[in-house]
Amino acid sequence: MHRIDLALTGATYPIFVGHDILGELGGHCRDLALGRQMALITDESVAEHYLQPVAESLRSAGFQVLEVVYAGGEESKNLQEVEGIFAQMIKAEFDRGTWIAALGGGVVGDMAGFVASTYLRGVPYIQVPTTIVAQVDSSIGGKTGVNHALGKNLIGAFHQPHLVFIDTSALRSLPRRELVSGMAEVVKHALIRDEELFAFLEDRLEDVAAMELDPETLDWLIARNVGIKAEVVTADEKEGGLRAILNYGHTIGHAIESATEYGRYKHGEAVILGLIGAGEIARREELWSEQERRRQDALLERLGVPEGLASVATERILARTKTDKKRVNGKSRLILGRRIGEVEIVEGVGDETVRSGIEYVQQRY
Ligand SMILES: NC(=O)c1ccc[n+]([C@@H]2O[C@H](COP(=O)([O-])OP(=O)(O)OC[C@H]3O[C@@H](n4cnc5c(N)ncnc54)[C@H](O)[C@@H]3O)[C@@H](O)[C@H]2O)c1
Repeated sequence: MHRIDLALTGATYPIFVGHDILGELGGHCRDLALGRQMALITDESVAEHYLQPVAESLRSAGFQVLEVVYAGGEESKNLQEVEGIFAQMIKAEFDRGTWIAALGGGVVGDMAGFVASTYLRGVPYIQVPTTIVAQVDSSIGGKTGVNHALGKNLIGAFHQPHLVFIDTSALRSLPRRELVSGMAEVVKHALIRDEELFAFLEDRLEDVAAMELDPETLDWLIARNVGIKAEVVTADEKEGGLRAILNYGHTIGHAIESATEYGRYKHGEAVILGLIGAGEIARREELWSEQERRRQDALLERLGVPEGLASVATERILARTKTDKKRVNGKSRLILGRRIGEVEIVEGVGDETVRSGIEYVQQRY
């Protein structure tokens, strides 16, 4: 089992990565000296596969488990659903000594984390992530929250978990589209920070996407990505600067998701398109070479680039880039490639340049 310790101001917690380890969760939670009562929050699809072994492990470690299962999916990541979870915890007479476990993908993690950050002004929680997105990204760093009818992730809080417990064998039941979408973040990590990881992906991408890696290699891959996320988060806990590099591909990617009302692309699919757009901008700005751009895009093409973006008006996508949180003084702040494994935060990028990146993607895919 790999162990990565995340040391932040006021919170240090271990991230365990292993294969077939869900049965060991209860023992690890007992070591944390948390209260006896706990809520195990998950969604219906994850419950089908993993609720029973996780609940059993927690019960046999002496915890009193309230199982909270909700429909799941991005549509359910809202305050009404949170209210329903609060109601179940209040009815069960959960006091300040209780804690929460989030079992599932990024939606469960963000929402259960938000519940933990606000229930009785905050109770401890742990993350048991079961998607690639959640294992390499959303479970680490303490960003929690829900969507509002007027926008994604607008309501939330920073609340660090006490433990992140990653069982990579859970990835084997993930639907193919979720796997590909999650792999977009893995490729992004390699592009921003780790050329060696990029070379590994060039070598083994199809095996990863088909989940045909042996357990040791899969654990290594996930742990390496956890390491990258942990390193960046440690350097910049509250998103003052460096953490923005995790947003590589996200300015155009988010704009595409928003311009298509979040219904057409999975987040990772939109990020793939965003990475290609940003890659072209970096080439035009002479930050990196044509060769680097091609190397990036070749890997993304093997992963699968969704087609048909030309049917969405360029202006509509461009308009959505203007609500990007990184924007300063009417100009975009973009994360652009310097070389494979290194990016730069570039201020003052004009809309025409951003448009050229969007058009490039539209012309090709
Ligand atoms: N907090 C952060 O720092 C952060 C970072 C990135 C993304 N996010 C958030 O994460 C969310 C996306 O997360 P996601 O992609 O994990 O989506 P998700 O949680 O909706 O999971 C995707 C689907 O896979 C199912 N599923 C989960 N694990 C499974 C498994 N092991 N086997 C079979 N099915 C499984 C789920 O039920 C769901 O239907 C977004 O809401 C995004 O805003 C947060």
